Amino acid sequence: MAKVMVFDHPLIQHKVSLMRDKNTPSKEFRNLAREVAMLMTYEVTRDLPTEEVDLETPICPARVKMLAGKKLAIIPILRAGLGFVDGMLEIIPSAKVGHVGLYRDPDTKEPVEYYCKLPEDIDKRRVIIVDPMLATGGSAVAAVDFVKKNGAKDISFMCLIAAPEGIEALETAHPDVNIFIAAKDEKLNENAYIVPGLGDAGDRIFGTK
Ligand code: PRP
Ligand code: URA
Repeated sequence: MAKVMVFDHPLIQHKVSLMRDKNTPSKEFRNLAREVAMLMTYEVTRDLPTEEVDLETPICPARVKMLAGKKLAIIPILRAGLGFVDGMLEIIPSAKVGHVGLYRDPDTKEPVEYYCKLPEDIDKRRVIIVDPMLATGGSAVAAVDFVKKNGAKDISFMCLIAAPEGIEALETAHPDVNIFIAAKDEKLNENAYIVPGLGDAGDRIFGTK
């Protein structure tokens, strides 16, 4: 069964709260997204394997730990997931970046695919799919379907705010995917927006409304 981890770090909580404020302008919203992405990536990568390596410090030879094993791929769901990529790359600069372009049909709320491009060796990488909002879960489920179809096996999903409905949909469709969330909200409203949420994440990042 999927592991669902809700972060309770005070810095993450504080920054997400600032992002919820409707008076936070896009410039600040983007900065906060980058900062939260860095903090969340630190937690999401906590169990990366390390290996012992010999090197020389300026003082003496030393046996030290370095990252070992699979390389990483960051897969933002367009558009809003893009706002998190720079912060994640600051922590894991050697990760490759793929893109899954989906938008929610305003009437059906179903995800519509419009662009997808993944690293060629995605099957050998540990994949972190990132999207700030997990609402009905339709977009997340479709994104995981797509990366699995392309061979990815080791997949985590990282988001800022999740509704219980979205968590349940993703857990049910993909019980092998670990879910990392900064805040779990109350419910969806009649337009399938998260309550209290932060509004439309894409519009807030890119200033389109
Ligand atoms: C938002 C969000 C997720 C999706 C979540 O994207 O960034 O991708 O909605 O909703 P769901 O869980 O009900 O599928 P949106 O479709 O608004 O596209 P955008 O990022 O291009 O604005
Ligand atoms: N997409 C968003 O951007 N916000 C929501 O609350 C739900 C879906």
